Amino acid sequence: MSRRAAHVIAAEIVRRPDCVLGLATGSTPVGTYRQLIDWNRAGDLSFRQVRTVNLDEYKGLAPGHDQSYRYFMQQNLFDHVDIIPENTQVPDGLAADADAECARYDSYIHDLGYSDLQLLGLGRNGHIGFNEPGEAFVKETHVVDLTQSTIDANARFFASADDVPRQALTMGIGCIMAARRVLVVASGADKADAVYNVVCGPIDPHCPGSILQLHPDVVLVADEAALSKVTAAGVAVCG
Ligand code: GLP
Repeated sequence: MSRRAAHVIAAEIVRRPDCVLGLATGSTPVGTYRQLIDWNRAGDLSFRQVRTVNLDEYKGLAPGHDQSYRYFMQQNLFDHVDIIPENTQVPDGLAADADAECARYDSYIHDLGYSDLQLLGLGRNGHIGFNEPGEAFVKETHVVDLTQSTIDANARFFASADDVPRQALTMGIGCIMAARRVLVVASGADKADAVYNVVCGPIDPHCPGSILQLHPDVVLVADEAALSKVTAAGVAVCG
């Protein structure tokens, strides 16, 4: 699964060496990043001209904090490939004015011309980035209150649930939908409901990923467990 997702990303970089990649954190893309690192080390793939924009960051975590998403990206990709550090962007979780940082992030992505390829994981509740279920899709990059479901799901990375930040800065639905292509990765039975709701459910902000049904070019790469409810509903998948 990770290799298939890596193929989609590598194809984008080969086709457009100076592409803009929207990148995601979480455990699901780790294997994909490892595969990209291997290809980079083998000399088959270069990140030399690639620019990246990450989806989100915990509010209040310093870049060097071992659970910050900046740290995750350094550890799982950036430190191991030939990307130019200045070409990687993650929202600043320590910005004194978080709303100003969100506005800066939006205009930075706008000025880049939006992502050529946006990689997304899925939260168990169907969130994308940190766009949590709610009454409306939020277009702009914004500060979000994390739901209890997300705090519980992410507590495994912290000493305890109490240590999980309660807020985050996240790219909004606008920048995600403006990406020319979207690649969603999902694995494990605990994502089966989210995958089903994203693919088959109504387009509803209570499942933020469902907005992707309106995007013209989405690739979903998932394992059998994550696809189980979609396949049970009779949706055809490529083997
Ligand atoms: C976090 C991130 C999401 C990610 C999700 C799923 O909440 N903000 O971008 O998709 O985790 O993570 P995992 O892949 O570990 O299940």
